[in-house]
Amino acid sequence: SFNFKNITEIIYERLDRRIINLLRLIGVYGNEIKMPVYVVGGFVRDLLLNIPNYDIDVVVEGNGIEFAKYVGKQLDAIVVPYEKFYTATLVFKDGFKIDVATARTEYYEKPGELPQVDVSTIKKDLYRRDFTINAMAIKLNPNEFGVLYDFFNCQKDLEEGIIRILHNLSFIEDPTRMIRAVRFESRYNFKIEEHTLEILKRNLEANYLERVSGARIRQEIEKILEERQPLIAIRRLAELGILKHIFPKTYYTPTMDEKLERVFRFLPLVKQRYQNISDFYAISTVLLEFYDKETLDFMRNRYGYPKKFIESLKFTENMMLPLKSMIESQLSFSDIYKVIGKGNPYIFIHLSAYLDDEGQQYLLRYIDAILNTKLEKVTGKYVMEKFNLKSGPVINEILETLYAMKLDNPNLDEILTVEKIFEETQNKINKAEVSENTNR
Ligand code: CTP
Repeated sequence: SFNFKNITEIIYERLDRRIINLLRLIGVYGNEIKMPVYVVGGFVRDLLLNIPNYDIDVVVEGNGIEFAKYVGKQLDAIVVPYEKFYTATLVFKDGFKIDVATARTEYYEKPGELPQVDVSTIKKDLYRRDFTINAMAIKLNPNEFGVLYDFFNCQKDLEEGIIRILHNLSFIEDPTRMIRAVRFESRYNFKIEEHTLEILKRNLEANYLERVSGARIRQEIEKILEERQPLIAIRRLAELGILKHIFPKTYYTPTMDEKLERVFRFLPLVKQRYQNISDFYAISTVLLEFYDKETLDFMRNRYGYPKKFIESLKFTENMMLPLKSMIESQLSFSDIYKVIGKGNPYIFIHLSAYLDDEGQQYLLRYIDAILNTKLEKVTGKYVMEKFNLKSGPVINEILETLYAMKLDNPNLDEILTVEKIFEETQNKINKAEVSENTNR
């Protein structure tokens, strides 16, 4: 390890004073309980790329939990141990977190399952990681502080922009790395190296991705969707055939690409208005179009889409053409309301895939009307008392009609309008009775 270079200068140039002090302290505590300690992975990668990263992953050669408890005591931080994995999270008073792990050789009983743990050295630990760019460590103990541990020419790959696995079983040990490879490629504008690509494709075709739980796949896709340019990554997932192993009945055509592009334009506006919007569901509205019922059931089972979501997906799919033309011809909100009611955010996202900017603008106005319109004076109780009606569907009809009218005209007088609506329903009922009588 002595021919590894010392990058203390880079550390001092690029990191906050606070972070440097913390890293220094961690090294000191390592010495105090006689454990070699390193910061590893994404933090090191981004430090060398000069990109801010506050996710500090610490690895110790020794018992990681014991080390975390020691640090926790010294720095008054809460320790959350995960005994099964020999890891712990340190949570500081200000909420700042550090993950501590035990250097380990992970092996997997079955591909795609959580790792079994076995205490090991930093070199083996790094060798078990996903890609060379993520397989460097910086020593933190005072006598070697700032020494970059690069066993596998990782720095060179980082400089050349290459995503490379460390060994041929990498994707079998964790198939979600296929998706991670694409994420790092598009995030840094790197390229997956040729041999790595070959292994990836081979393992993909051997259906290793299918062995991973839907939840983990979904998580990885969600991470892609949090990146700055998600569509570029999705295109690449499609190009490499990975998407087909996640959405088995999806054909990634130029039309599909355009729909997603429009969804990505509209999505931030929906997120400003609704909480807890899942990006994964959002793109699924488009990716799951025209699926047969069996495959949809399978997808629901695998990825945990709520039943409601699938139902509204089917609804929007069936109503798409009329709805698109209603919005494009800027039909009144009350008319749109008759078709979709208050809708839900995923219906709106799905619709947005079919709308140009102008259409999206109109849809957004509809959404805002829905979100901002409430009946303030007229309630079910009011209607019943005022018109001497018993509870029943008629009450709701009157309220809905009033609500729809208020969407078009937020300033209407609820009290006067509900009277008119009542008269009209009376007339309708009377007419119906008359025609029924004459028909006899
Ligand atoms: N890792 C791995 N295989 C995985 C996931 C993670 O080997 N399937 C290793 C990598 O060394 C990675 C580290 O664990 O650097 C931390 O993983 P994670 O926090 O998921 O990713 P980061 O590399 O930190 O990337 P990001 O910037 O997206 O957080």
